[in-house]
Amino acid sequence: MSTERNLVLITGAAGWLGGILSSALIADPKTPNVSFILADIVEPKAPEGAESVCIKADLTDRDEIDKLFNTKLGIPDTIYCLHGIMSRGSEDNFDLGVKVNIDSIRYMLEAARTYGPKLGKPIKFIFTSSLAVYGGPLPDVITPSTIATPEGAYGMGKLSSELLVNEYSRRSFIDGRIIRLPTIVVRPGVPSNATSAFISGIIREPLKGIKAICPIGNSIDSPELDKLAAWLASPETTINNFVIAKHVPAEKFMPHTRVVCLPGFTATVREELDALRKVAGEDALKLLEFKDDPINRRIVSSWPARFDNSYALGLGFVADEGGMVPIVERFKKDVEAGKA
Ligand SMILES: NC(=O)c1ccc[n+]([C@@H]2O[C@H](COP(=O)([O-])OP(=O)(O)OC[C@H]3O[C@@H](n4cnc5c(N)ncnc54)[C@H](O)[C@@H]3O)[C@@H](O)[C@H]2O)c1
Repeated sequence: MSTERNLVLITGAAGWLGGILSSALIADPKTPNVSFILADIVEPKAPEGAESVCIKADLTDRDEIDKLFNTKLGIPDTIYCLHGIMSRGSEDNFDLGVKVNIDSIRYMLEAARTYGPKLGKPIKFIFTSSLAVYGGPLPDVITPSTIATPEGAYGMGKLSSELLVNEYSRRSFIDGRIIRLPTIVVRPGVPSNATSAFISGIIREPLKGIKAICPIGNSIDSPELDKLAAWLASPETTINNFVIAKHVPAEKFMPHTRVVCLPGFTATVREELDALRKVAGEDALKLLEFKDDPINRRIVSSWPARFDNSYALGLGFVADEGGMVPIVERFKKDVEAGKA
């Protein structure tokens, strides 16, 4: 039996991805004997099957962050830094977005820098970023050398924190890993305050028999539905990639950056709706009301929709296969099983 110790701190643990990450790590054979420190401004829930300390903390407060490194479980060897204010939230409240998406990440990095030496090795610091770091004129396909110039407060906040994670890694204060996530579809539960929330909403709500607003175009015949394409990944693949991010050997990353754009695939809003029609029939589409929201459309249209997956795949990350249809089919089964 392995005696390896795995103590993982997850911030944003009461959020959607934080909530499912702990179960994935418990099931991961490469992460034996895992225990958790789970932190969020909302009280996180402990997962079954592992020792956990749950801490309700506002991570914009340095003293609260200090508590995460002084629990009975000890100093974490891995941090998943997931807490944040999502895209529309930080666009609508600039000061809150800066405080949470930049200031609190710097405080987390400082804490990891302070406590890492007590472990005898740099703490692994996995930071979730987003394709919202991109904007402006972009090539047809984003590659690792495409320069990120965000056009929104969320992307600006993520990019600022990425620079810090890279610099702290270069100085060996931490062992950073920055994963830029595609938009994840289908997100269960209630709509989030992300600008991209409709990308899940137009599938999720009709599958649950609920009406939803599609903020792109004013009718199902609108050409905007063909024009707006998004870069997507399923929740299952994304969480697999979160776990893989912990296992990539540090020396495999390019020497100058710890940024990796996680693998994804491209779908237009029309292709999403076609998948919904194929899986759930024409009646599901009748639950959608088309009400164009130019702010949403502008922000989501500024995000790139095509990436070169080869660097991420070469590091061992994985991609969805089969596009939207299998994802919609899986979500329909979850709805039928009462899990969504
Ligand atoms: N879901 C996606 O499609 C997607 C795409 C790209 C990037 N990401 C990134 O992945 C991460 C997780 O996303 P998610 O979908 O689980 O988000 P989420 O909104 O469900 O969770 C974020 C959590 O952060 C917490 N939080 C906010 N402010 C806090 C503070 N001051 N102190 C402590 N906790 C605070 C919230 O309470 C929430 O539980 C985020 O960093 C997000 O930017 C997500």
